[in-house]
Amino acid sequence: MNPDLKRLHPYPFERLRALFASAPADAGYEPISLSIGEPKHPTPAFIHVALTEALSGLAQYPSTLGSLELRGAICAWLTRRYGVAPLDPETQVLPVTGTREALFAIAQTVIDRSARQARVVCPNPFYQIYEGAALLAGAEVLYANIDPEQDDAVDYASITPAQWATVQLVYTCSPANPTGKVMTLEDWRLLFALSDRYGFVIVSDECYSEIYCDESPPLGSLEAAQRLGRTDFERLVCFTSLSKRSNVPGLRSGFVAGDRRILAQFLLYRTYHGCAMSPPVQAASAKAWADEEHVVLNRAQYRQKFAAVTPLIQSVLATKQPEAAFYLWARTPIDDEVFAQQLHAAYNVAVLPGSYLGRTSQGHNPGRGHVRLALVAPVQQCLEAAERIVRYARSI
Ligand SMILES: Cc1ncc(COP(=O)(O)O)c(C=O)c1O
Repeated sequence: MNPDLKRLHPYPFERLRALFASAPADAGYEPISLSIGEPKHPTPAFIHVALTEALSGLAQYPSTLGSLELRGAICAWLTRRYGVAPLDPETQVLPVTGTREALFAIAQTVIDRSARQARVVCPNPFYQIYEGAALLAGAEVLYANIDPEQDDAVDYASITPAQWATVQLVYTCSPANPTGKVMTLEDWRLLFALSDRYGFVIVSDECYSEIYCDESPPLGSLEAAQRLGRTDFERLVCFTSLSKRSNVPGLRSGFVAGDRRILAQFLLYRTYHGCAMSPPVQAASAKAWADEEHVVLNRAQYRQKFAAVTPLIQSVLATKQPEAAFYLWARTPIDDEVFAQQLHAAYNVAVLPGSYLGRTSQGHNPGRGHVRLALVAPVQQCLEAAERIVRYARSI
């Protein structure tokens, strides 16, 4: 067996299941889950139609590169959304079967195991796939803590020049899971300068880019690169998903775009990895990227939930309206694991302890003392969950 499998950490939801199993919930309450970030709004009907109308495509093997129709729709979307100069659909974009697999696979493509030390930087707290990808690529992980003093920005200054010299890949997540923090142009300038100096690849996870308050669309990495004169997107690859934007987490559809030299190698890797997108999924995805109306309606539903829930949670826990994404990141007055366990036992509401999303680095786990609330359930359920959280927090 691959010994690196032993280096993997248990997934947060496995830990949550074990935590809840040790103190069963009061069955007098309907269960409400705010723990998993799975979109729950209905999939738009036109995507169902596009998928079924393309079922004849099941009779062909798809190419890893995907159809030109899909790549063209993605490039057109990138230009509409970010104002970037049109990307070349032949070399600067690739479809992926959900960003999860692609965020994993990119590390297998980029990491050079023959280096004396190969390191990957992850924000902390973070989406656990980054860490597993790094470990299975034979790399070590450096955890760069978010800094509440800097409005939850990632503290890259904590990494020493000697450490940077060994870094081959940096994962960024903007808008961030769990804080909703969006990287600024200044943040990108700093990271690009570090990449120029040390030669690492930046993997920018932007799967929450379309969940925001309509007045302020988050800055994207390709947009930032172009505004800073990096028109070839040197050492930058951006990952975007339909799962949250179009409420299709089961479709498994996203894309990667950016540096064509990296994408050529990624295409080679993916040809062997065998993760080409099914033709009906490609057809439905092209239609989804071409439509914005459903995305605007989707955002309106999240806005309604934040407006209803945030003030209630703020009456008992320190939290703020995030810049983007669909999470509230709230401080707990007691240990976050105990908070989540007692809340579940007393009121049958599942929230995720922040410490499960982080690792101890620089002497502490920056997720500790927080819980993540995913506002994915219908508004009435989110509201009911918030009322139960208020009752529980007042009883502590
Ligand atoms: C930060 C982050 N990145 C990527 C993903 C994966 O999304 P998908 O594989 O559905 O594109 C998730 C899923 O929850 C996520 O939270």
